[in-house]
Amino acid sequence: MDAISVIRAKRDRGRLSDGQIDWVIDAYTRGEVADEQMSALAMAILLNGMDRAEIARWTAAMIASGERMDFSGLVRPTTDKHSTGGVGDKITLPLAPLVAACGAAVPQLSGRGLGHTGGTLDKLESIPGWRASLGNDEMLAVLADAGAVICAAGDGLAPADKKLYALRDVTGTVESIPLIASSIMSKKIAEGTGALVLDVKVGSGAFMKSLDDARELASTMVGLGTDHGVRTVALLTDMSTPLGRTAGNALEVRESVEVLAGGGPADVVELTLALAREMLDAAGLPDADPVKALADGSAMDVWRRMISAQGGDPSAPLPTAREQHVLTAPASGVLTALDAYAVGVAAWRLGAGRARKEDAVQAGAGVELHAKPGDTVAEGAPLLTLHTDTPERFQTALDALEGAFTLAPEGASFTPSPVILERIDRP
Ligand code: URA
Repeated sequence: MDAISVIRAKRDRGRLSDGQIDWVIDAYTRGEVADEQMSALAMAILLNGMDRAEIARWTAAMIASGERMDFSGLVRPTTDKHSTGGVGDKITLPLAPLVAACGAAVPQLSGRGLGHTGGTLDKLESIPGWRASLGNDEMLAVLADAGAVICAAGDGLAPADKKLYALRDVTGTVESIPLIASSIMSKKIAEGTGALVLDVKVGSGAFMKSLDDARELASTMVGLGTDHGVRTVALLTDMSTPLGRTAGNALEVRESVEVLAGGGPADVVELTLALAREMLDAAGLPDADPVKALADGSAMDVWRRMISAQGGDPSAPLPTAREQHVLTAPASGVLTALDAYAVGVAAWRLGAGRARKEDAVQAGAGVELHAKPGDTVAEGAPLLTLHTDTPERFQTALDALEGAFTLAPEGASFTPSPVILERIDRP
């Protein structure tokens, strides 16, 4: 077996055999296949695709490149959620403790942000003292004690994906449905959860800009999960406008705590509850009541235990940015569109996100929305507040927001996009 013949096979629109896939993933993980060869193969896959059987084998080979976690010793059923990433998507923060408060165990291995979408670990690291890295034993201990744990995936989990994802990121090969599906599902299956709910985002702020692409990604992932014995369902959800009223690390933690306290923006609450019901159903707990767990404070109790168990102080004030700039409405009218991608890029440029893996993020940076699509605004009223420690960044953030919102004359009709667009439970 050699890398060049595998690359040529895919370049020439052929199918990769099981043997070719197993070999190339293993040899790449061991360093025998070079980055430039894997880049060429990733580009050939992006251009020519893989069929369902190839994707299944590719995923299995990436799982086999590392360890698999085992939660069979837990009394509670395990259930997890994965979002394909969006702007203002802080849902994991209230969701994990909420589902744990309803009786399931939630082992949530999360990532950092890259580009315009934020990362759950970056958000939680804005809580003073909170640690993302836990050893496997420590992770199990937090899970057994609090019922939920959110932490970084260890190096042993799907190491082939870790290497390949970093390579795709710098070679323009992220946006391939077979590569995205196998990347996400290899980690989730290796993580060992019994049930999985996928939140596949659709719209300008998401990887998938069209409903058709999102459907294909969702059904591919549902098929992969089901074939590996993980009860998997997907919701396709709107990402044409940011979720909630904040995009940025500490800003989003604050909003998540509002949800756990029984408040928070309607779209964040709606999606959190919908995903919680799916996770509980998939875990075999269909009668659990997440609305009650938000109202009676039990979800907030789990949040506080979970944050404390990882060194965080849930009562400590959250960091705020040193400087603010308010963008006001240029005219009175109805806000009919506020583009998710533009807000994500603005938050990123203000310092909430990173351009390279090794960059630091600013805890307080980001964008606060004072109006959401459908709201009526008066001329001169605040539309957005930009937050950063480095005010020289305001101009590039404002550039990103050029043309990002549409104001229609007062009284104009507006049809809101539903938060949840579709549910997919079979391949
Ligand atoms: N998230 C992942 O983990 N992998 C991808 O390929 C894309 C998003």
